[in-house]
Amino acid sequence: MIKTVEFTSEGYVLLIDQRILPTEEVVVECRDYQQVAEAIRNMTVRGAPAIGVTAAGGVALGAQEIATADMAEFKRRFEEVCDVIAGTRPTAVNLFWAVERMKKAANGNFASVPELKKALRAEADAVLKEDLAINETMGNNGAGLIAAGDTVLTHCNAGALATAGHFGTALGVIKAAHLQGKNIKVFADETRPFLQGARLTAWEMMKEGIDVTLITDNMAGHYMKKGFIQKVIVGADRIAQNGDTANKIGTYTVAVMAKTHGIPFYVAAPLSTIDFAIPDGGHIPIEERNTREVSHVGGKQLAPTGVKILNPAFDVTPNEYISAIITEKGVARAPFQQSLEALRKA
Ligand code: MRU
Repeated sequence: MIKTVEFTSEGYVLLIDQRILPTEEVVVECRDYQQVAEAIRNMTVRGAPAIGVTAAGGVALGAQEIATADMAEFKRRFEEVCDVIAGTRPTAVNLFWAVERMKKAANGNFASVPELKKALRAEADAVLKEDLAINETMGNNGAGLIAAGDTVLTHCNAGALATAGHFGTALGVIKAAHLQGKNIKVFADETRPFLQGARLTAWEMMKEGIDVTLITDNMAGHYMKKGFIQKVIVGADRIAQNGDTANKIGTYTVAVMAKTHGIPFYVAAPLSTIDFAIPDGGHIPIEERNTREVSHVGGKQLAPTGVKILNPAFDVTPNEYISAIITEKGVARAPFQQSLEALRKA
């Protein structure tokens, strides 16, 4: 079983280093909250739910580091910890969801600072435990959408490595269908420039014994046209009220191609990925990452020195391209404004 994020008894945060998978399996130990923040920033850990769980652990660890018995002083420094963790990556809303949840936990009535620190640790543990359970439920909710013998295309990595571990979101649906004996196959887009598909999804699927074929991103349309692909399932970094979905750059292209070829396009995400505060995808901040991720591959320069480069990490797929959104509370279909709201209240 893949363990992406773990908390030690001292409150340290253990992360499988996703920058060097699959050739090396190394676990990084973050012993202070600044190290946790850096691990989110530099993508030692990545994937919206995994970022959320790591953030919760980072906030609890940061709280633990505050050496004061004075409650007012503690609260002031705790806000600073939350700001540092929240300032790491802008798009995945699970990060902000987790930090808010930790802040809420800190707002209870506590007789002492140690008591409050203990409550924060318990809250981080709960976030991690809930993530594992949610993903399993989501997988089972979505498996019904997959028919026996389907080949499912996925983009990026929305598996165990993108969550606390074990199941994943989009790959959780695939794993659940596989466990139901549906004999499915997976096509994994390599997902330039960070190669989450080539490095992480291919690795995860092979570990699970699921038939996986790796293709470069520009091959997806070709195989859809040839009838190789029956379904597309991806994860999400932030979903707006109306169902518009931010996910890894390239997802929009896949969704347009899927619609052109009459292939159902599904998004699998926990309710913590839905940003009920924003009406549509135009309000989702898109992270721009270092251009070196595009100019270099595996440390080797490919592009000419000085060429202009753009590197948005995510794009937004408008809701009309999405056949359904699979959550832990059930499956939402258009009109998403109503169906997502109903799931929130369920
Ligand atoms: O930049 P990343 O690797 O953090 O982006 C990850 C994705 O886009 C995933 O598809 C998304 O977070 C869903 S993960 C269950």
